[in-house]
Amino acid sequence: MTASTNPQSPIPSSAPIAFIGGGNMARSLIGGLISAGTPASAIRVAEPVAALREALMRDFGVLVFEEAIDAVAGAGTWVFAVKPQVMRAVCENLAVQARATRPLSVSIAAGITAEQLDRWLGGGNAVVRCMPNTPALLGAGVTGLFANAQVGADGRAQAESLLASAGKTVWIEDEALMDAVTAVSGSGPAYVFLLAEAMEAAARRQGLPDDAARALVLQTVLGAARMLTESNEPPDELRRRVTSPGGTTQAAIETFEAGGFRDLVVKAIDNATERGRQLSAAND
Ligand SMILES: NC(=O)c1ccc[n+]([C@@H]2O[C@H](COP(=O)([O-])OP(=O)(O)OC[C@H]3O[C@@H](n4cnc5c(N)ncnc54)[C@H](OP(=O)(O)O)[C@@H]3O)[C@@H](O)[C@H]2O)c1
Repeated sequence: MTASTNPQSPIPSSAPIAFIGGGNMARSLIGGLISAGTPASAIRVAEPVAALREALMRDFGVLVFEEAIDAVAGAGTWVFAVKPQVMRAVCENLAVQARATRPLSVSIAAGITAEQLDRWLGGGNAVVRCMPNTPALLGAGVTGLFANAQVGADGRAQAESLLASAGKTVWIEDEALMDAVTAVSGSGPAYVFLLAEAMEAAARRQGLPDDAARALVLQTVLGAARMLTESNEPPDELRRRVTSPGGTTQAAIETFEAGGFRDLVVKAIDNATERGRQLSAAND
């Protein structure tokens, strides 16, 4: 596994890049590419919803199309950014074109395997499967990437540069682990939201007014996340430093430990991983 924190650079390949699907995730990737210097004329987007097409054209100046087959014409990289349920039909419609032009196919759909995508596109394709997460919409996400055997060094660089617009990137060499990536970072923001919800409820129970409870919790989550990412110290060390013997933090941490907090996190991530496996199988 290799993690990259490099700032984004323009996409290395000179051939245009086609997005199939122009929804939330595509929009945030396109915004990142444009701000990193990729020319708008090199970005082609297929999106069936007219209002989304117009917004993409107005906001970024990219070329928009109603049909995927028109968007992929002349594009060296195809980015599949549609919902998993429609992925098979979308790919099968593009299979003839994929065989003729052999693009790099990049998928951000949860639970669709590289093997499925390759098969639906007719076989023999270079495929990078990615798992971004919702903070990508703010450029603060993290994406796990897996490349099949057909992807060379250029294809990896291309995919990494593309996803760098959503935040950090981490290469995963064993595709079976992509379900664990989904369970950890894909679903992970919701775990932090759950903790924030529970802390807010507990703060109100102590008598704090709603707005005070929310401000105290949100800023605590933000501050803790910044310490985790900016201090170079592992989480256990940061926790030890704020846990004085016999103090208030220790009283809370002991309660979490006695309630089986760590085992619960392990079980939650086990169940999310298993659900990811089941969903992949269901899409086939
Ligand atoms: N949002 C996230 O944080 C996140 C995180 C990780 C992974 N993902 C993955 O990213 C993918 C896209 O998610 P999203 O949140 O961006 O979804 P979204 O906002 O629903 O965007 C998908 C867009 O693709 C359009 N579309 C459907 N069929 C199409 C076709 N044949 N050709 C071209 N466009 C088509 C959809 O139009 P209609 O509405 O008319 O169907 C929709 O506008 C999903 O597979 C999801 O699993 C998202």
